[in-house]
Amino acid sequence: MKATAVAPSNIAFIKYWGKKDDVLRLPENGSLSMNLSNLTTTTTVEFSTNLNEDYVEINGTQEPSEGSRAVKHLDRVRNLAKIETKAKVITNNTFPSGTGLSSSASGFAALTVAAAKAAGLKLSEKELSILARQGSGSACRSIPNGFVEWLDGETSDTSYAISLHPPDWWDLVDIVAIVSDEKKDVSSTAGQKLVYSSPFFQVRLTKIKEKLEYAKSLLKQKSFQAFGELLEAEALELHAIMLTSTPSLIYWMPGTIQVMKFIKKVRNDGLPVYFTVNTGQDIHLICEKQYSKEVVQALNRLDCVKQVIENNPSDGAKIVK
Ligand code: PMV
Repeated sequence: MKATAVAPSNIAFIKYWGKKDDVLRLPENGSLSMNLSNLTTTTTVEFSTNLNEDYVEINGTQEPSEGSRAVKHLDRVRNLAKIETKAKVITNNTFPSGTGLSSSASGFAALTVAAAKAAGLKLSEKELSILARQGSGSACRSIPNGFVEWLDGETSDTSYAISLHPPDWWDLVDIVAIVSDEKKDVSSTAGQKLVYSSPFFQVRLTKIKEKLEYAKSLLKQKSFQAFGELLEAEALELHAIMLTSTPSLIYWMPGTIQVMKFIKKVRNDGLPVYFTVNTGQDIHLICEKQYSKEVVQALNRLDCVKQVIENNPSDGAKIVK
């Protein structure tokens, strides 16, 4: 009744923002992402009849189990496995959480895979993705390998992620620039609820299907410049919606904007690199492998960049023990 899983975080090129079903976490639109080799969560789950309540430890700190999202997720697994046994969960991230690097994606993917195995369930990749989605939407994309599409779906059974291409499809690199360890003040879950208050959200929805198909075709052709332009514009569209929600959501910090302006400058000087940002201040820079060294060197010239983490495309969540 014990298992350990490792799962990657992922970076969305076409974003998920807005839910048509809050409880089931069904997204308003499909999204497209890449799994990240060096932003990972390792989670061990042990179901034991010796426990009277669930115990959840994240990065060495015990979480209050009352109302916790992790415990709700364990309940989903227990329901499927038809067991009532309590569990001990120990989880560790290789990167800061709450700063925009999607630790809930890697966290819920690792919890899903470890808990399902420990509970004796034999679930397919699709079933694991559906289950992970209910813990945190973007976690469903951390189950399949490499470059991934989350099919939005109209029901729980039709909303899951699939692998479009394996990790070695395209040697893209995601260079994460950490500009602050400060935790975001509004969680993604809370932020997403405000989406309909932005006048721009309905405009986004009219174009999003077409945009996703275009992004998939650029990924297939490995057409870097067009892909980079699209993913950067997509991130800015996401933040335009956040900024114009009521109340407004401002996830950037001065360092985020400094890196954005810097990237535009080095790009004008001939270095092909684009940025994307999620809910937080830390920023992802996307380039092809042959330019990654130069991008890292350039970033290291900026005082606002505290740490750089280089990621290759990776497999999805896996059992390791
Ligand atoms: O899965 P959540 O609730 O953490 O939402 C993720 C939202 C974004 O990171 C902003 C976009 C995405 O698709 O990952």
